[in-house]
Amino acid sequence: MSRQVSFDRYGGVEVLELLPAEKPVPGEGELLVAVRAAGLNPFDTKVRRGLMEGVFPITLPSTQGTDVAGVVEAVGPGVQGFAAGDEILGSTGRRRAQADHTLVPAASALPRPPALSWEVAGSLWVSATTASAMVRAVAPEPGEIVLVAGASGGVGALVSQLARERGAVVIGVAGVESHAWLREQRIIPVSYGEGVAQRVSAAAEAAGGRLAAVLDAVGGGYVALGVELGVAPQRIDTIVDFDAAARYGARTDGGAAGRTADVAAVLELILAGRVQFSVHRSYPLEQVRDAYRELEEGHPRGKVVLIP
Ligand SMILES: NC(=O)c1ccc[n+]([C@@H]2O[C@H](COP(=O)([O-])OP(=O)(O)OC[C@H]3O[C@@H](n4cnc5c(N)ncnc54)[C@H](OP(=O)(O)O)[C@@H]3O)[C@@H](O)[C@H]2O)c1
Repeated sequence: MSRQVSFDRYGGVEVLELLPAEKPVPGEGELLVAVRAAGLNPFDTKVRRGLMEGVFPITLPSTQGTDVAGVVEAVGPGVQGFAAGDEILGSTGRRRAQADHTLVPAASALPRPPALSWEVAGSLWVSATTASAMVRAVAPEPGEIVLVAGASGGVGALVSQLARERGAVVIGVAGVESHAWLREQRIIPVSYGEGVAQRVSAAAEAAGGRLAAVLDAVGGGYVALGVELGVAPQRIDTIVDFDAAARYGARTDGGAAGRTADVAAVLELILAGRVQFSVHRSYPLEQVRDAYRELEEGHPRGKVVLIP
């Protein structure tokens, strides 16, 4: 037997249950994985609250979670390159990562480098694919000034560092608790809230130029802010504010435009010590409600991870 996180109605963390489940059977091209770590994403919360119904319909009861790392227990027909006993990180594709066992398409899996902790491995995929696609969408050139909204988040912290690795000067909007960390990463911190446009403008001027691109992992006005500050809409990418993107002609490249090769490239940067990807806290799978409470209310800097 196995256990899986499940909810049978839309709502807050109180609808989450850890229920017994059959061990899944791997189909064509799939790996059966004994889960060692499964990271949380805000997407899970949006789906569970029923906020994605229009764009991402689900059936209830529903399982939960995308990011995962674990040990391959069995492989389905047609799988090449993986075998029982392999340690992998990946993406379930079926929103069933938060469980003792899950299925991962072999095409969405990579070997876990021994130096990478289970917690980091199990929370990397969505952030790495999304951040890579966002940076690719606006293609920052060396010396260009780039704004990242949500620079302390799971996606934004990677976006900021990947843009910096391309030689861009990065201004990162985040809560003040993360400003010291952003400075350590050579990212210019700016607080959000009233007056953010003036602070961003002043930071760009102090950096010797004007904004060339905006990477928005927050929504709520950063696309419009970029346009107001003279950024060409095709050099603005948002993964949240799709209405503003449609209104201004901005880009919306995110997780769906990510590739397995993107995760491999991010892994190399992490292992080389060039990029940081941090875990804030791990919870046992039984404490799934506490874990989401922290994600939703706590402003954690770094991922929150469930450990079966
Ligand atoms: N479309 C896609 O493909 C896709 C893929 C992945 C994620 N997403 C979405 O992207 C968003 C970010 O995901 P995530 O995993 O990075 O979330 P996260 O880890 O919770 O990070 C959220 C970030 O937003 C910051 N923030 C909150 N309010 C802000 C404001 N008014 N201005 C600027 N920053 C603000 C937070 O800063 P502090 O904590 O420092 O206050 C934090 O850095 C979520 O809405 C998620 O659903 C979309």
